[in-house]
Amino acid sequence: MKKIPKLRWVKKPRSVSIVGTGSYVPRRVLTNAELERMVDTSDEWIVTRTGIRERRIAAEGEATSHLAAEAARRAMEQAQVSAEEIDLIIVATVTPDTAFPATACWVQKHIGAIKAACFDISAACSGFLYGIEIAQQFIANHTYETVLVIGADKLSSIVNWQDRNTCVLFGDGAGAAILRYRAGSHGILSTHMGSDGRFANLLITPAGGSAIPLTRDNIDQKLHCLHMQGRETFKQAVVSMTTAAQIALEKAGLDTEDLACIIPHQANLRIIEALAERLGLPMDKVVVNLDRYGNTSAAAVAIALDEAHRYGRFKTGDYILLVVFGGGLTWASSVIQW
Ligand code: ACO
Repeated sequence: MKKIPKLRWVKKPRSVSIVGTGSYVPRRVLTNAELERMVDTSDEWIVTRTGIRERRIAAEGEATSHLAAEAARRAMEQAQVSAEEIDLIIVATVTPDTAFPATACWVQKHIGAIKAACFDISAACSGFLYGIEIAQQFIANHTYETVLVIGADKLSSIVNWQDRNTCVLFGDGAGAAILRYRAGSHGILSTHMGSDGRFANLLITPAGGSAIPLTRDNIDQKLHCLHMQGRETFKQAVVSMTTAAQIALEKAGLDTEDLACIIPHQANLRIIEALAERLGLPMDKVVVNLDRYGNTSAAAVAIALDEAHRYGRFKTGDYILLVVFGGGLTWASSVIQW
């Protein structure tokens, strides 16, 4: 019988951990009271329908890459990783500095990570967890040692400030994580990603791409701004995040009772409460910061992860669940043993 040669070069997948987190939000606070003076809305409506009290707005000249670079520096400091050690930078954003080059390349320039390969991913609010899964694959398969994943968005640059349906919801910010191989069983235990392009029109910036290039006319019609069918998006968000959370738990072989906390996408407190109820989780196990930042798109779950980490919401060995949802439609989830 013919002998099958041994594939000596195939290495065993290795476990991957988040070894540092960081986040950054701009200084400028935009309160509900200020929005009351801009559009026909009220603090009472915004708080009861969304849970949002204020959000941060980037300064003039402060681009997505600047927010991202500051979050990255904080994650690098915590992980004690130098810029030269970073092999890959992934930036998740729907508000890139430029259509090209990638925002990841601008971040590379700002932080001096000269050895890194760089690219962006577009998965709206789900982008950070998409980035975590991509990074995990590269490290598990021995392609890279150190990967920087950033979720960053400057949604103030695509919000229609005359549309009360959307302008009260969003804010600017960035969150970052450094991923590395770490011996032992801790680390990312499961990941799950999904999309459904049939709902692409629910949340969309219609103009500015190849389908509808920018013209004076469509700018006047605000087609370069974010448009959302809120009610339908709400329903899809609850269903998709519940299913995604259950899949990640099942893949990790865990139940909700095993979790120290869950960190969901920060779009609307009512969505988060519905998710917690469906998962059978008390709200004190759910990380919420949307009252202070609104929905910061790809940054939201990354900022919440960093704050939960820094404020001691979980400790080494604890199980946490991250779950997100956004335009695309897209969704993703991950169970991590810290
Ligand atoms: N102030 C006062 N009234 C308002 C405002 C406002 N800011 N916005 C809407 N309204 C009015 C509407 O005009 C409507 O009035 P009408 O009944 O006279 O027509 C009424 O309030 C109810 O509007 P709804 O859209 O039904 O309000 P709802 O309770 O659904 O809340 C919201 C709207 C907050 C947008 C909610 O639907 C939501 O959170 N949707 C999901 C958002 C989400 O999950 N996004 C995730 C992805 S984001 C990304 O990927 C970038």
